[in-house]
Amino acid sequence: MSQSLRLGVAGLGTVGAAVVRMVARQAESLGASTGRTIRVTAISSRDRSRDRGFDMTGITWFDDPVALASSADIDCVVELIGGAEGPARETVEAAITAGHHVVTANKALLARHGAALAKAAEAKGVALAYEASVAGGIPVIKSLREGLAGNRVSRLYGIMNGTCNYILTRMEREGLTFDACLKDAQALGYAEADPTFDVEGFDTAHKLAILTSLAFGVEIDSEAVSVEGISAIQPLDLRMAEELGYRIKLLGVAQVAAGGIEQRVHPTMVPKSSSIAQVMGVTNAVTIDADAVGELTLIGPGAGGEATASAVVADIADIAAGAKRPTFGKPAQTLPSSPRVAMQRHEGGYYIRLTVHDRPGVAAGVATRMAERDISIESILQRRSESAAMTDPHGRSGQPVPLVLITYAATEGTIRAALDAIAADGLLAEAPQLIRIERE
Ligand code: NDP
Ligand code: HSE
Repeated sequence: MSQSLRLGVAGLGTVGAAVVRMVARQAESLGASTGRTIRVTAISSRDRSRDRGFDMTGITWFDDPVALASSADIDCVVELIGGAEGPARETVEAAITAGHHVVTANKALLARHGAALAKAAEAKGVALAYEASVAGGIPVIKSLREGLAGNRVSRLYGIMNGTCNYILTRMEREGLTFDACLKDAQALGYAEADPTFDVEGFDTAHKLAILTSLAFGVEIDSEAVSVEGISAIQPLDLRMAEELGYRIKLLGVAQVAAGGIEQRVHPTMVPKSSSIAQVMGVTNAVTIDADAVGELTLIGPGAGGEATASAVVADIADIAAGAKRPTFGKPAQTLPSSPRVAMQRHEGGYYIRLTVHDRPGVAAGVATRMAERDISIESILQRRSESAAMTDPHGRSGQPVPLVLITYAATEGTIRAALDAIAADGLLAEAPQLIRIERE
């Protein structure tokens, strides 16, 4: 067997500790498949005294991950600290400068600095591998970069954040509050250190930016993604979705559009009968439309220590076996930028929940503003609150009540213009809720 691959693991949290345990557990099989012994020889974390579930004897400890990354006694740095700046970025940069391969699960870092890091890694002739950065244990990076190399991709979309899907699933199935579900997702190790990244959609945007670069051959740019999270979703929206035959999912979508690649992240109503609607809990799913293969969907665990470690260890095995490919499929210097495609031009169906004053003519007023802009309404649902009904059986109480519309396809620009006009008419008691519908 040729020389062993010495790993330095920076970050020993949910993922890092699972990686060290997995490398030890699978040592024999990894050695047989790659032709090299793979060993963790250095580790770094903040708290040296904490039990990480593995034996640290014989492994060099570094208080400073940058010192670990610069050490001449390792071959590959596994960065599992997290965050786009600070120690994670410094660790990866130091590793590349020192000529070490890098494996990371850090989508925030790649989304912000991926283009520069890829150029630096390619100039140094080292690998920058990141299978675990998107969709946890699903091998979606390898599938896009290698498995679909002979295809032209026209669209990809999916559920890419385990925390959000876990929250939406439990709110819908168990009627739990948003906060209670988020707390459980944190306890299970699914959420980011700052869960705002999950629930406000940024984590999905980072992942979508990575997949877009690979799928469409453009430079990674998370600024080109339109982002909305799930924090404004109310239990009422989940109930309405159920009643109307939909489920709400946080989707990331990238597709070829006039003017570039449309990249968007937002809560989405999907038909209850669709396959994406069946994806529950921490599970992720990514669907790729490509010319040769047609439609391909990858489904699996999107977060958690073991599932994510599985993807990290796959990258380590590739490096041990000598696999070398440009970070984003093509040489980083050659990738063109892709400008942001304005969300206003997006066309599709919309779920609109208005909170209107309960009085005669309100629904007609809303319908008029929609019709003026040629927006066709597929269905309309009005629910009176019990208190409004009791106060005034004639429907003139003026109390806030929900009015839900489902539209046929319209552009976001016209929908927003109609909502502005409805607000200007004084019909709304609260800001409207707007959720895009994807029917296939
Ligand atoms: P954790 O918060 O569980 O672990 C982070 C680790 O980094 C901790 O061990 C922490 O040390 C260490 N750390 C923080 N700051 C420093 C520092 N200055 N020097 C040395 N070590 C430091 O995060 P996760 O394991 O959940 O995530 C790690 C990465 O993997 C992130 O980029 C995340 O986005 C990504 N990821 C996570 C997934 C998941 O399911 N959790 C799935 C896919 C990707 P200490 O323990 O001593 O406090
Ligand atoms: N916080 C992320 C999620 C981890 O919930 O999907 C996996 O990338």
